[in-house]
Amino acid sequence: MKKFTSETLRQTYLKFFADRGHAVIPSASLIPENDPTVLFTTAGMHPLVPYLLGEKHPAGKRLCDVQKCVRTGDIDEVGDSAHCTFFEMMGNWSLGDYFKDEMIPWSFEFLTSPEYLGIPVEDIAVTCFAGDGDCPKDEESAKKWIECGILPQNVFFLPKSGNWWGPAGTTGPCGPDTEMHIIRNRQAAAKLDAYMFDKAPEGTFLEIWNDVFMQYNKTADGAYEPLKQRNVDTGMGLERTLCILNGKNSVYETDLFEGAIAEIERLTGHSYGESGEVTRAFRVVLDHIRTATFMLGDVHGVVPSNTDQGYILRRIIRRAVRFGRNIGLPRGGYTAVAAQFVKKYGDIYPELVANSAKIYEELDKEETKFSNTLQQGLREFRKITADMPAGGVIDGETAFHLYDTYGFPVEITGEMARENGLSVDTEGYAAAFAAHQEKSRLGSEAKFACGLADHKEETTNLHTATHLLHAALKIVCSPEVQQKGSNITEERLRFDFNFPRKLTPEEVAEVERLVNEQISKDVPVVMREMSLEQAKEEGFTGLFENKYGERVKTYTIGDFSKEICGGPHASSTGKLGVFKIVKQENVSAGIKRIKAVLVK
Ligand code: ALA
Repeated sequence: MKKFTSETLRQTYLKFFADRGHAVIPSASLIPENDPTVLFTTAGMHPLVPYLLGEKHPAGKRLCDVQKCVRTGDIDEVGDSAHCTFFEMMGNWSLGDYFKDEMIPWSFEFLTSPEYLGIPVEDIAVTCFAGDGDCPKDEESAKKWIECGILPQNVFFLPKSGNWWGPAGTTGPCGPDTEMHIIRNRQAAAKLDAYMFDKAPEGTFLEIWNDVFMQYNKTADGAYEPLKQRNVDTGMGLERTLCILNGKNSVYETDLFEGAIAEIERLTGHSYGESGEVTRAFRVVLDHIRTATFMLGDVHGVVPSNTDQGYILRRIIRRAVRFGRNIGLPRGGYTAVAAQFVKKYGDIYPELVANSAKIYEELDKEETKFSNTLQQGLREFRKITADMPAGGVIDGETAFHLYDTYGFPVEITGEMARENGLSVDTEGYAAAFAAHQEKSRLGSEAKFACGLADHKEETTNLHTATHLLHAALKIVCSPEVQQKGSNITEERLRFDFNFPRKLTPEEVAEVERLVNEQISKDVPVVMREMSLEQAKEEGFTGLFENKYGERVKTYTIGDFSKEICGGPHASSTGKLGVFKIVKQENVSAGIKRIKAVLVK
């Protein structure tokens, strides 16, 4: 196998697909837009869902990228050798263009050719979909793999639980997949027949790549209906692949973490690998501070708060501080570690450099806040639990007290409880939390499982209303107003923008009037594709520029609104209904939030 660095691996992947007619597109934001069901971008396909469903992508039908992703579902497992909350996913897509006959030979070539990864053929196993009532057995993929040179005994079949990807949420694009694995234990692998892949002892195989043949749309009633187009969606984790190619035991031993590890060693006097406990603390700090750096440095810049993305960020920073304390990471050490990540990733993700001051400032603020109460909180925790028998349960009110007074997110209390053979009454906590009249969004893991906004008429109309609102705010509040975040459910739109104060009742009325005026005029919504340059020249609002490639889609609503946007939108404003602002909120000092609805 060839040795790679993170830089050469990214380049090699993108070049391979660029040479095969793919447009290289930049990573989208970590915060999904217009997607109410998920907090973070969880896979490379996530920002591309509209295009997998049939929208035309301005860069064409063949795309590839390296996408920033966050998955926090198994955050408590961070500290072992494999789990990361942040990762980069290399991927390529066919939007109704090529399918299995092209993708499988390309995957084979990329994995095995000495020009690319150079993995010996006999070390590769593949799994294919075994077939069920929804979709036939994927004999085509199996046949293609064998034609390419995969040894027939290394072709396995798995049911939906193993060889099916998506939908990311409850509905949306999905399909059978074929996964490629490195064989780590040839003897164990040799004992398995074609349907026994999942009976292999732990560590026999290591997944390296996933090719999804997205040809179905899972509907709300659970049916799989064929999509308009047959897509390919692939994903290869950068960290994992680097680790495999360089023969490392853990993703933390790749070049991505070298600078940050050296920094922690310098600051604490401990060395990585010194003992199990120290290694775990290093890994938690490394993973969580890297994730925090990317969240804070994102174009949609999350800051620590008590809800949604901000709460996850708060939770990971605080968990890092708790573990950092175990190895004596001094005050300010977290920003020093973040600086190593800015340095390591800055060329590839320039937003980290652009936002570095904010990253350090927010990290420092959150560290200070939590450090001030951590010591006392730990003492309080010990007091509370001192007389508890094994299996004891910390009640909801007490867990809430630890959160409210000492800043311990309930998940951290839960983890500390488990370390002591105890548990937390999370339902009781949620009740206590609600009783203290805050929004209860914690512990709702459903929200962290990923999912995607649909293209229902309601959401599409609200999306168009969002553009009208944005334009009206520029008129009523300030031309400097910019979108800082958007989220749409079937019921309402939510729009974040930069403005120092809440709008007065008069301003709210004026914004509503302007939007409703456009609606009553039934103005057509016109989509045009053009180069980013031209769009800027023509005065389109380019919100998230580094998300787009060369060609962009623009949406014009009369002479009122001009935005660069992926769509979809209502064809004209007349069908929107009556626009009404229902709520204003404070997101942070400079950012305000408006929730609005369309009344039929
Ligand atoms: N979407 C697929 C995955 O995340 C490629 O594995």
